[in-house]
Amino acid sequence: MIRSARTPHVRHPDQDEEDSHMGQPQQQSEGTEAGKPPLRVGMVGYAFMGAAHSQGWRTAGRVFDLPLNPVQAVICGRDATAVRAAADRHGWASVETDWRALVERDDIDLVDICTPGDSHAEIALAALAAGKHVLCEKPLANSAEEAEAMAAAAEAAYGRGQLAMVGFNYRRVPATALARSMVAEGRLGSLRHVRVTYLQDWLVDPEFPLTWRLRKELAGSGALGDLGAHIIDLAQYLAGEQLTGVSALTETFVKERPLPGGAVKGLSAVSAEGATGQVTVDDAALFTGRFPSGALASFEATRYATGRKNALRVELNGERGSLAFDLERLNELSYHDGTEPAAHAGFRRILVTEPDHPYLDAWWPPGHGLGYEHTFVHQARDLVHAIAEGRQPEPSFADGLQVQRVLAAVEESAEKNSVYTPIAV
Ligand SMILES: NC(=O)c1ccc[n+]([C@@H]2O[C@H](COP(=O)([O-])OP(=O)(O)OC[C@H]3O[C@@H](n4cnc5c(N)ncnc54)[C@H](O)[C@@H]3O)[C@@H](O)[C@H]2O)c1
Repeated sequence: MIRSARTPHVRHPDQDEEDSHMGQPQQQSEGTEAGKPPLRVGMVGYAFMGAAHSQGWRTAGRVFDLPLNPVQAVICGRDATAVRAAADRHGWASVETDWRALVERDDIDLVDICTPGDSHAEIALAALAAGKHVLCEKPLANSAEEAEAMAAAAEAAYGRGQLAMVGFNYRRVPATALARSMVAEGRLGSLRHVRVTYLQDWLVDPEFPLTWRLRKELAGSGALGDLGAHIIDLAQYLAGEQLTGVSALTETFVKERPLPGGAVKGLSAVSAEGATGQVTVDDAALFTGRFPSGALASFEATRYATGRKNALRVELNGERGSLAFDLERLNELSYHDGTEPAAHAGFRRILVTEPDHPYLDAWWPPGHGLGYEHTFVHQARDLVHAIAEGRQPEPSFADGLQVQRVLAAVEESAEKNSVYTPIAV
């Protein structure tokens, strides 16, 4: 059984507390560093998210004063040469070519799952059974049934001192964390609208190949599970409540595509000559939803928004004010205080780089902005604190299951001509 040292309470990102030691880089050596117990990480998958999570594990302890010392102990991939190269590039001490061997290693405390959705459940269940903490990329699983088994296993493991978290990293942008605290403080009053879009354009070319993201048996769903899962989680996190039902449309615009001709890199890939295959997931998903408070929500997830690269946009309208966020300008939060006199009221830009903004006390001077990769550093930081304190990290596997149920309701509604579909509880 893996148990990590407990430490006194350490702040949530929304709370004030000094935890910066910028300018005093920490050594990331194996074992205790400055008296800190290690948190030995084994990561499965070494491509897009593998690189992003590596950045998180490598950097978190050098920027934040963590109670445990993250150690990049082992990285796993199926190709021995490629995984060795990834280990060297991203700073992992050893390699495995079978995730089962990684999960069974007794020199690992936490398994970090950065593979496509078809393997999340199997790896997470095995890791929890082997006594490890787990960090699993989103969406939690490829179906609600898989997610139910994972959430149940995580709950049982919690009783044994093991913790599990889902990688909804957009909660950990300083501006979204600030938005959450402003909503919780009541600055918007009762919410009326939560408007969220997540727009990409990497599928516009019909010759883009049939990578794993376009195959239901590997990805579970398309834009819905990939982008939609993020905005469902973010909308619910920001609103502080969970959707009760949805009404949806989905579409697959290009139904047949060339097969891939080589390695996939991030969202890029090349096509093979000749052979084609069926696209078995949605290309776009649009849906509306209701919150228990009476607020209405709208969602759009697509890979066909020509010119939009990673445009995750949120707007919250409440009776007292509004907030707006755009991931492509992630150091900014727009806020309209509806209680100000109309003569000089208006949206104003909050530059979210002040030391008293979430996560920012450990980074750079005001105005020296952060980027996408920092969300993974913050994710590692928050998980390390939760493990050290024996506290359930958020989002939990139960949260991941609830998002999975929303995804399932969206698919069910779309199949039934947009009929309003309650979210299973
Ligand atoms: N949080 C985010 O912003 C974000 C962004 C992109 C992807 N994701 C999620 O991360 C996960 C991985 O996506 P990605 O973009 O990194 O994919 P990717 O294709 O870039 O990488 C997948 C990796 O998994 C490895 N892999 C696949 N099956 C494996 C197996 N059985 N055993 C060992 N390794 C295996 C591949 O070799 C590869 O290294 C997905 O769940 C995806 O939805 C999250």
